[in-house]
Amino acid sequence: MRTVPVSLGDRGYQIKIGGGLLDRLGEECARLELGARCVIVSDSNVMPRYGPAARKALTSRGFDCGLITVPAGETAKSLKTVQVAYDQLAAARLERKSFIVALGGGVVGDMAGFLAATYLRGIPFVQAPTTLLAQVDSSVGGKVGVNLKAGKNLVGAFYQPRLVLCDLNTLGTLPEREFRAGLAEVIKYGIIYDAGLFRRLEREMTRLLGRDPDVLTAVIARCCQIKAEVVRQDETESGPRAILNFGHTIGHALEAISGYGKYLHGEAISLGQVGAARLSTRLLDLPAAAAARIEVLLARAGLPTSVSLSARRRQALIAAMKLDKKVSAGEVKFVLARHLGRVEYGQSVPQSSLEEAVKSLAVPSLPGNQSSSLR
Ligand SMILES: NC(=O)c1ccc[n+]([C@@H]2O[C@H](COP(=O)([O-])OP(=O)(O)OC[C@H]3O[C@@H](n4cnc5c(N)ncnc54)[C@H](O)[C@@H]3O)[C@@H](O)[C@H]2O)c1
Ligand SMILES: [Zn+2]
Repeated sequence: MRTVPVSLGDRGYQIKIGGGLLDRLGEECARLELGARCVIVSDSNVMPRYGPAARKALTSRGFDCGLITVPAGETAKSLKTVQVAYDQLAAARLERKSFIVALGGGVVGDMAGFLAATYLRGIPFVQAPTTLLAQVDSSVGGKVGVNLKAGKNLVGAFYQPRLVLCDLNTLGTLPEREFRAGLAEVIKYGIIYDAGLFRRLEREMTRLLGRDPDVLTAVIARCCQIKAEVVRQDETESGPRAILNFGHTIGHALEAISGYGKYLHGEAISLGQVGAARLSTRLLDLPAAAAARIEVLLARAGLPTSVSLSARRRQALIAAMKLDKKVSAGEVKFVLARHLGRVEYGQSVPQSSLEEAVKSLAVPSLPGNQSSSLR
């Protein structure tokens, strides 16, 4: 097992990473000196698989443990789901020291975290992430929230968990496509912060795709360390935390114009990272060879690296970037790479470069790359 500390003073906590950790959920929670009552929030895919073991671990340590199951998928990240769950928390008589365990992917983590942040003005919560994306990204850092019709994550809070428990065994049932989508965020950490991690991913992609436990433990732990370090520097995203958005400006826009259905988040940000890397060669002198390595690695992870967009869709994509909530004063700011392991945030990108980069996404610069089309 690996432990990664998140140093945020009295809001600090530990991330534990290893196989079989769900069986230790009870003893880990007992250490946190929380109340005797808790509720596991999970979705309809994850609860039947891992809910019973998690509950058994808690009840065997004397916790009184209820269960709330929400539908699987992004639609569960809604105020409607939250409202139903509030009533269930009240019926389960949760009190100020009672706690919530978020067992599932990023959807469950964001929604259950928001529930914990707001019920009784805040009760403790523990993250037990079961997707690769949730283990390396969404469970760490305290961003919780739900979607509105007007857009994703428009209602939420910064609210840190008391513990993050990543049980690698749960990844065994994760669909291949979801696993690969998580790798897009893993590769991102190499690009933004750690060239050594990037090289390791180049060396060990095959073992990683085989979900080798040793490689997974080391890689997930490194990603969590990086996220923890970035969050420590800027907990509420006033500046440096923006580097985590490398590839996300184009990626989010792609998700928005394709109606949040065609692409998984990781697939959209794979394309976004290809676009951002090409912009970086143009505007920040990222060596072309480094941009090519980024594309090759994403392609080896089985992620899309080119997309053919009609002129109309390209315009829609650029318009969607300008609607992103991170835009200030109407200017789209990018995170761009200077070299592998080092990025700069707040970079202005001229409209002409943006158009060119989006257009260039249609051109598969690599042999055998994963192309998709969206017209
Ligand atoms: N809070 C943050 O900082 C942050 C960061 C990144 C993403 N997010 C959010 O995370 C969400 C996406 O998270 P996600 O990719 O984990 O999606 P998800 O939670 O929808 O999970 C993906 C799918 O896998 C299933 N699943 C989960 N674990 C499984 C397992 N072990 N075995 C089998 N099936 C399993 C789920 O039921 C779901 O169908 C988005 O809403 C996004 O906004 C939040
Ligand atoms: Zn992301």
